[in-house]
Amino acid sequence: MNKFLLLILLIALATTLTLACVPEKPVKDGKGELAVVIDREFTSPVTHSPIDWWQTHHPHVVNSGDIKEKDCLYCHNAERSCNNCHGYVGVRKIK
Ligand code: HEC
Ligand code: HEC
Repeated sequence: MNKFLLLILLIALATTLTLACVPEKPVKDGKGELAVVIDREFTSPVTHSPIDWWQTHHPHVVNSGDIKEKDCLYCHNAERSCNNCHGYVGVRKIK
């Protein structure tokens, strides 16, 4: 086989293997163990808008005492929608 074709084949193989081995991330409605899951029956409260602001600032809102941590758990299951992400980023567990 010509060397060029062989090279292309090797690159294709390496790409497939790399993609298959990318570790999971905690993504909302993602797949697998780390997926962030929130019950469908809940709509997102105004504090969460815009959602990317909230993703960054929720620690300060909770730590400043504006909203109590246990009030988050009314909608969020701590294991499925806090700690899967906290474990991944290395933040303490929510109880
Ligand atoms: C009334 C129900 C409700 C309450 C109370 C609530 N959440 Fe949420 N939260 C949601 C919903 C629904 C979503 C998904 C929003 C979306 O997809 O736009 C969400 C999304 C999030 C996300 C983003 C997850 C991601 O991966 O994008 C974080 C972080 C979060 N909430 C933290 C908190 C914290 C911290 C509190 C308490 C201060 C809290 N939530 C209180 C319903 C709630
Ligand atoms: C998609 C990822 C993600 C989700 C889901 C998430 N958090 Fe966080 N949380 C973080 C990150 C990242 C930090 C650290 C931010 C920093 O250090 O600046 C953090 C920090 C915090 C802190 C501050 C911790 C400390 O020791 O000071 C609290 C409190 C907190 N989160 C509450 C919650 C609660 C309650 C939930 C579930 C309702 C939740 N978080 C869901 C990513 C997330």
